[in-house]
Amino acid sequence: MVELLPSILSADFAHLADAIAAAERGGATAIHVDVMDGHFVPNITVGPPVVKSLRKATKLPLDCHLMIENPNDFIAEFADAGADWVSVHYEACPHLHRTLQLILNHSMKPGVVVNPGTRVDLILEILPMVHHVLVMSVNPGFGGQEFIPFSLDKIRHLAAMRRDLGLQFKIEVDGGVAHDTVAAIVQAGAELLVAGNAVFGAGQPERDARALLAAARQAEILQSASNPADGKSKIH
Ligand code: DX5
Ligand code: ZN
Repeated sequence: MVELLPSILSADFAHLADAIAAAERGGATAIHVDVMDGHFVPNITVGPPVVKSLRKATKLPLDCHLMIENPNDFIAEFADAGADWVSVHYEACPHLHRTLQLILNHSMKPGVVVNPGTRVDLILEILPMVHHVLVMSVNPGFGGQEFIPFSLDKIRHLAAMRRDLGLQFKIEVDGGVAHDTVAAIVQAGAELLVAGNAVFGAGQPERDARALLAAARQAEILQSASNPADGKSKIH
């Protein structure tokens, strides 16, 4: 079943606990935390101390998206802070297997992220290790950007790889997930939907999370009804 993961990047940072509680009432099942270092991406956000406070504010899994250089140096701190899922960028990890192993060794669920310009084939070998693959559908760094359409092909390709390899990892999508894009994203095969602006941008996170999730679930129902042969297609 598709899930909604609100990104707190577009929330009011002075009232994060309230924002998260509202999004949870609207159906959010995990919270997406964008960690930026001003080097890997041209923006700076939050780190382990904020994750530690969020841990006290919600029981939902904290999905920490590390847009940082040298993520290995911070894995232990994120674990101590209470992170549940940690994803690292393919582009930031010269020793990706080691980094994912480190996340696993700290009892967190590892994810790998691919930027819009990175082919999904490049992560083939590590797919059995990950809990989720995050397909960036904007160039990371800022909320409120427009969805890049070719991301749909990457999601479809990844879903085909997953079927053909017999794996169970989740496909997560981040960037420009909104009312006008969510149906196509779900139909392409994604089930973890990150949304910042579409949930928090209008200041009505409960209402807007609920509406976005309803649109996603409707697309999912249509998809499974129209694709009874799901699971049989091959990579091409
Ligand atoms: C972008 C972040 C996203 C961002 C998405 O670098 O990784 O999580 O918050 O924002 P929207 O949903 O507004 O595109
Ligand atoms: Zn993100």
